[in-house]
Amino acid sequence: MSLEKFTIETVLSVTRWSDHLFSFTMTRPASFKFTAGQFARIGLSVDGELVVRAYSVVSSPYDDTLEFFSIVVPNGAFTSHLKDLTVGTEIYLEKVAYGFLTLARYQSPQPQDLWLLATGTGVAPFLSMLQDFAVWKDYQHIFLAYSVRTPEELAYADKIQQILEVFSEGHQGFKFIPIITRDPEAVLNQRLPTLIETGRFEEFAGHCLSVETSHVMLCGNPQMVEDTKSALKAKGLLMNRRGEGNIAVENYW
Ligand SMILES: Cc1cc2nc3c(=O)[nH]c(=O)nc-3n(C[C@H](O)[C@H](O)[C@H](O)COP(=O)(O)OP(=O)(O)OC[C@H]3O[C@@H](n4cnc5c(N)ncnc54)[C@H](O)[C@@H]3O)c2cc1C
Ligand SMILES: NC(=O)c1ccc[n+]([C@@H]2O[C@H](COP(=O)([O-])OP(=O)(O)OC[C@H]3O[C@@H](n4cnc5c(N)ncnc54)[C@H](OP(=O)(O)O)[C@@H]3O)[C@@H](O)[C@H]2O)c1
Repeated sequence: MSLEKFTIETVLSVTRWSDHLFSFTMTRPASFKFTAGQFARIGLSVDGELVVRAYSVVSSPYDDTLEFFSIVVPNGAFTSHLKDLTVGTEIYLEKVAYGFLTLARYQSPQPQDLWLLATGTGVAPFLSMLQDFAVWKDYQHIFLAYSVRTPEELAYADKIQQILEVFSEGHQGFKFIPIITRDPEAVLNQRLPTLIETGRFEEFAGHCLSVETSHVMLCGNPQMVEDTKSALKAKGLLMNRRGEGNIAVENYW
């Protein structure tokens, strides 16, 4: 891999959410441009080899630094090294950002309702979008559903409240929908496709999914994406292609 495609950035802070989830910020070169929802390709030198992986940017396009939210995969070629980062660690950053899980993919932002549905670290691109004033201007209702296994994995719950305070001024239509699948006490503890199929999801949201009014974005576990797509299609929603249609997706593996 040609190193010329990369700049070398420095880790500025690290937050550990659990033994297999952490976030970090790093320097952002002025030349690194991205749209909320896009991903960067970041790398580490491991035994003299550059190992690179895709990472959605959590931070806002307006921030001076870049933030990422990471899983630790046991024996993962990348994350079993990335997990040891500390302030000052050097990270390779590919100079261009990638990806089409952005609001720009919808030709008309008019369908009023934006549904952002994530599992695990798949919440990352949605956190960036919520820190972009455009989303609050373009959509009357915004729903963020975030499915994790246990309460301690619900990283960023406080940050979501802070984002609302800063970005959603005057906006009355946001609803956070936490789903904690392995907590029998949680208000919502079934998987997203089941919640949609049974109507519990819309009941909790207090709003309906519909082909006329909904833009729906799915991100994270590929099986969740597949199963949720089927549940949404059964309600008449359509895949977004060439700007038309409701559903846009990003698979993390
Ligand atoms: C477009 C895109 C954006 C991505 N953004 C992020 C991100 O913001 N944060 C992030 O942690 N990962 C993200 N990923 C996944 C990331 O690229 C790596 O797969 C992850 O860092 C693990 O790397 P690894 O080499 O340790 O294991 P890999 O060999 O890459 O993965 C091994 C296995 O671990 C599991 N796995 C991989 N990634 C995840 C994950 N995120 N959550 C749960 N299980 C996982 C899967 O079962 C996978 O088969 C993204 C992937 C894509 C394609
Ligand atoms: N302590 C640990 O070492 C530890 C702890 C947790 C995870 N892990 C490992 O980390 C990896 C990723 O874990 P993760 O929890 O971030 O990701 P994940 O397995 O994708 O789970 C995140 C959320 O997605 C849900 N989900 C999974 N498949 C789905 C589907 N088909 N449809 C709808 N929802 C679905 C999960 O529900 P369900 O709960 O119903 O699956 C959970 O709420 C796994 O390989 C796991 O083994 C390790």
